[in-house]
Amino acid sequence: MPGKRSRPTPASFEPVRETLTNRPPPKTVAIETISWRGDHVRMIDQTRLPEERVEIEIRTVPEMVEAIRALRIRGAPAIGIAGAMGLVAALHPHRDDESEAFLEALEGYASELEVARPTAVNLAWAIGRMRRVAEEHADMAPAALWERLEDEALAIHAEDLAMSRRIGEAAQEVIASHSGILTHCNAGGLATSGLGTALACAYVAHEQGKRIRVFADETRPLLQGSRLTAWELMQAGIDVTVICDDTTAATMAKGEIDLVIVGADRVAANGDAANKIGTYGVAILAKEHGIPFYVAAPRTTFDFALRTGAEIPIEERDPVEVTAGFGRRTAPEGVKVYSPAFDVTPARYVTGFITDAGLVRPPYEETLQVLR
Ligand code: MRU
Repeated sequence: MPGKRSRPTPASFEPVRETLTNRPPPKTVAIETISWRGDHVRMIDQTRLPEERVEIEIRTVPEMVEAIRALRIRGAPAIGIAGAMGLVAALHPHRDDESEAFLEALEGYASELEVARPTAVNLAWAIGRMRRVAEEHADMAPAALWERLEDEALAIHAEDLAMSRRIGEAAQEVIASHSGILTHCNAGGLATSGLGTALACAYVAHEQGKRIRVFADETRPLLQGSRLTAWELMQAGIDVTVICDDTTAATMAKGEIDLVIVGADRVAANGDAANKIGTYGVAILAKEHGIPFYVAAPRTTFDFALRTGAEIPIEERDPVEVTAGFGRRTAPEGVKVYSPAFDVTPARYVTGFITDAGLVRPPYEETLQVLR
């Protein structure tokens, strides 16, 4: 049953965009990756793409933790939003609790959600923000506090939407018409609440009439590039070509790539950037071929508490994703597997960060301070 004050996420994001950017409505229709439905969360189950677009409903913390771990929802900003909304959904049945019981439930849920995946800082950041709201308003009656938390989760969602558009706009000074853009994994609308980060750059270029061509690394082992990036760019009518991860060097050598734009899961204070496994290799290849390598990320992805990328926790995934990823065995049963989900690209390979505060160039220890 929906809550008394049911405020679903608007089906169309146009009014939000117009107010935030003061420009005519863009042509790109943001995918509604995740939305709030008054007492529960609705989201696209990304494990089913591109075969079918199926939406799932989440009401409890175990359901949300499972969805995040199984990558039904994934991408750094999107799991932050999911964590915040998941917390509010789980607390919905507690609105009539005594204050102490409500706060106890909140703390229990928050501590389960914030560790669902370790690398993207956005998840712990979003839960931390929800916790602070609860602390600041601990004197409120649970029903009122629940509404305040609902507002906060919706604010996180709306802010992310606005940031993704600003990232897309900031990128335009480095994207010329007829550019070939290489991206890795999926840092698109499916990974955020809006246009994405890396893919926001392509969407805005496309809106501005630039003729661009995107090359999507397939992104082993879970194929976020071929399953998700290709799917969403095709929906938007953007020219996209899927390449196997081992085709990246050859494509660069052929002169097809003018710039690389990838997303990030966490960026340390010195500019070392964690992103999907394989990104580091792409950065090295870009350097060898003299191709600029950009990391597109909102300020929520920067973790100034970490001095360098060596401190970023890297998630390791279940070997079965490598040995029998999509149901078919592709490696002998029992073989040893090493499957980190992310790697860290040293800051020296990053030409610039495309952020919601504009383009940031080295020396990062100094220049990234603008995002604090
Ligand atoms: O394991 P995933 O699919 O969550 O990995 C996602 C990525 O590495 C993205 O590039 C990153 O989260 C940035 S999303 C805007």
